[in-house]
Amino acid sequence: MARLAAVIQAEGPASAVAVCQEEAPLISRAVAMEMGVTIGRTSHKLRNPNNRPKPWVEAVIAAQPETPQFLTAADGRFGAILPIRLKSQCLTCHGSPEAIPAPVRDALRTFYPHDAATGYAENDLRGWFWVEVPPLASD
Ligand code: HEC
Repeated sequence: MARLAAVIQAEGPASAVAVCQEEAPLISRAVAMEMGVTIGRTSHKLRNPNNRPKPWVEAVIAAQPETPQFLTAADGRFGAILPIRLKSQCLTCHGSPEAIPAPVRDALRTFYPHDAATGYAENDLRGWFWVEVPPLASD
């Protein structure tokens, strides 16, 4: 959010879109390492089976929540699940199979033979970010 706000102020909102698309994954990885949290993306229609939800995430996304969900476990762990909606530019790779350019379709077939993540329209609920925060150390 800090990076987004800085770019919006300096370069305008159009430039800030790149923060979401390109920098967000890098930022989340850096934050994950720095803060000791675990971050991932998942979906009820997966492209990459490695993005399968962990059990605690699975229990929440079974209901396909459209708003952010926050959970605490008995051991003090904290979890957040944040919906991801598709923008028009996502449809090149997640839209209806006929609308996906042939070279993209071929690559998807090669790398993701069990791809279930096509056939979407703009603004559809595509999946969720999840964040797992370990219990705070007590003083
Ligand atoms: C250039 C093609 C391309 C575009 C454009 C694209 N994606 Fe994807 N998407 C992929 C690929 C490839 C994967 C599998 C990534 C992996 O191996 O973890 C993926 C995976 C995902 C996942 C993780 C869940 C899963 O099914 O594995 C989500 C969520 C997602 N995309 C959302 C989006 C959103 C939102 C946009 C637009 C902002 C978008 N994608 C644009 C190709 C694309």
